[in-house]
Amino acid sequence: MGMNLKLKNMKVAVVGLGYVGMPLAVALAKYGPVQGYDVNKKRVADLKEGWDSNREISSAVLRATSCEFTDNIADIADSQIYIVTVPTPIDDNNDPDLDIVEKASAALGRIVKKGDIIVYESTVYPGVTEDVCGPIIERASGLKSGEDFFLGYSPERINPGDEVHTVENITKVVAAQNDDVADLLVELYGQMNGGNIFKAVDIKTAEASKAIENAQRDINIAFINEVTMLLNKHGLCAHDVIEAASTKWNFLPFRPGLVGGHCIGVDPYYLAKSAIDVGHQPEVILAGRKTNDGMGAYIADRIDYYLGENDRRDADILVLGFTFKENINDIRNTKVIDVVRALKDKGHNVDVHDPHAMVDEVKDYYDLDILSALPQEKQYDCIALMVPHSAYKEMGVETICRYVKSDNDARSIVYDLKHIWNNQDFPDSVDYKYL
Ligand SMILES: NC(=O)c1ccc[n+]([C@@H]2O[C@H](COP(=O)([O-])OP(=O)(O)OC[C@H]3O[C@@H](n4cnc5c(N)ncnc54)[C@H](O)[C@@H]3O)[C@@H](O)[C@H]2O)c1
Repeated sequence: MGMNLKLKNMKVAVVGLGYVGMPLAVALAKYGPVQGYDVNKKRVADLKEGWDSNREISSAVLRATSCEFTDNIADIADSQIYIVTVPTPIDDNNDPDLDIVEKASAALGRIVKKGDIIVYESTVYPGVTEDVCGPIIERASGLKSGEDFFLGYSPERINPGDEVHTVENITKVVAAQNDDVADLLVELYGQMNGGNIFKAVDIKTAEASKAIENAQRDINIAFINEVTMLLNKHGLCAHDVIEAASTKWNFLPFRPGLVGGHCIGVDPYYLAKSAIDVGHQPEVILAGRKTNDGMGAYIADRIDYYLGENDRRDADILVLGFTFKENINDIRNTKVIDVVRALKDKGHNVDVHDPHAMVDEVKDYYDLDILSALPQEKQYDCIALMVPHSAYKEMGVETICRYVKSDNDARSIVYDLKHIWNNQDFPDSVDYKYL
């Protein structure tokens, strides 16, 4: 017998208002009653004031939204659909840390009612929703999963800072414990993107799909990173080689670089752990992680080598960009820190500039003082571009050269990790290098 679920009469609560949850809550609130709940009182107070410290949603949109923000879980107890978007990080041993998602599940277990639906969006490995979270909710509520309350899973694909792939236009995968709930989720999420929903056969399939998407990307980048290292030894330019290879119809043109952030550098460890749990030793997945995690040290070695070639020791280096990727202010798990620390260990003096990263946050997380404005007077032996923020892409050769020393015999280095200045005509006093 069908469950006769009617979205029209349902209230939605989003649990965890970070990079994923807050924009989702605001987007869903266009179509029906939505509340956003977070344990972080400061975050909730900021959002109520119209301030998104992640800079994803403007104050005007936040002030206009019908979404109600709260730090009191009792306020969301009358919802029928709960969407969980809390962090799923790794610990110091690179093992999945499910602590936060477990705590959120226990808290929901204390307010869940018969007929409610709990959808997880946090990235996990297959089985976490039904075999880890479900039993926690059952224990806290005394209700039965799949009978009294229903679980769903819908992996999040948004890519902060990406204006092309947005909640409104990317295909969303959904899955649930039964077809009626899955259909309700198709309707719920479909409101936001014109019905562009893929219904996965079951929750574990949807969980696995997310884990392999990011692991695949990680491995592809790792391959290109390894290729770049060997091409460097050949004295060849990886970008030129990739450009030539890209003329083949089925070559995948990934670019070398640092792999930071809390998705691509993290999710493969979730997949690896789930492999080990079922008795499969993951080789390729972990090899990709190892290669990518070593890139910071490799890049610092290259910069140090080029400086040495130009007789520049104990050099003054200006690192451009600190966030984990371009045009966002997110510094969590940025791998630029590996480059900065390795360069300092080699005896260089390093200044770091980033137009987006928050100075206080960098100090708190990494005990590092960064510049939010480019230095007025100082000149450097090396400019090391790490993050291709638009502001850097727009810099012409004259602006770049303003920051390099040109007053002695040795040439200065411009190290362009992302190859964004390859069309610039640098003067002879500059040795232009890239990954
Ligand atoms: N950021 C991305 O680009 C992205 C993309 C796809 C998937 N994901 C996944 O989405 C999930 C959330 O990521 P994020 O980047 O939004 O994290 P985030 O750290 O930006 O936000 C998480 C929020 O959850 C809150 N929180 C923690 N415990 C809570 C609890 N018990 N109850 C209520 N709120 C709680 C935190 O205070 C924080 O505001 C993760 O699993 C992540 O892997 C993230």
